[in-house]
Amino acid sequence: MIHRSPRFSDRSILVCQGLCCQKDGSEKLLKAFKSQITSDTKIIPAGCLGKCEKSPIVLTLPRKITYKRVSLEDVSRICNALS
Ligand code: FES
Repeated sequence: MIHRSPRFSDRSILVCQGLCCQKDGSEKLLKAFKSQITSDTKIIPAGCLGKCEKSPIVLTLPRKITYKRVSLEDVSRICNALS
């Protein structure tokens, strides 16, 4: 299988899976994004995105919008903001 890094032109949602974000529920967020998103958007588990003090962190591409202290209730809003 060939993996490539997301390009900034790709519509993607990076869900941090670093230790701080995992401690604050990012695994559940990753599952929630995967269950809600359309096929033209990539859901990518990411390493630490450098904002641990505001975990869990989600970064959307291509606009590079960072969402902090994301909860399960925010998932739909973030998905809708991509459209
Ligand atoms: S572990 Fe998620 S921002 Fe550092």
